[in-house]
Amino acid sequence: MTATVAGGWAGGRSPAPAPKAAAAPATAASEHARDALVPACGTCHRSDLPTAKPGALAVFDLTKDPWWITIKDEQYDGLLRRVKGSSEIADDDKAAVETFVAAIRRPASPTEEP
Ligand code: HEC
Repeated sequence: MTATVAGGWAGGRSPAPAPKAAAAPATAASEHARDALVPACGTCHRSDLPTAKPGALAVFDLTKDPWWITIKDEQYDGLLRRVKGSSEIADDDKAAVETFVAAIRRPASPTEEP
């Protein structure tokens, strides 16, 4: 059940800003983000590995289905900092994580301030 995001927004056209439909893109983005995080962070943040750290799993467990559900809002800054600082994560994977965090942090707001 590992639906990979093939294509997605990656087209020549500029991505359509769709902040209103936050839930669906967040789900797709969360899969890409997980793929990006597994190699660099999975050692400790995957409960199926013997190297997993309980403290790390408490923050997030990449094997869980919504793997991000346990992340607290204030922890996303630290997550992004670690991701950006990691040489193991490719630039487009970093971008995928940023896209995901932006989507997940901003739950669908019914009205938009001008
Ligand atoms: C060597 C093990 C290990 C690796 C690799 C690791 N983590 Fe963690 N992480 C932990 C542990 C343990 C904690 C629990 C809090 C603590 O002890 O610092 C944690 C906590 C966190 C937290 C919450 C606390 C904070 O400092 O913001 C975030 C966010 C986080 N990790 C993100 C990541 C990301 C993103 C990666 C990959 C780029 C990663 N971690 C890789 C072990 C690891």
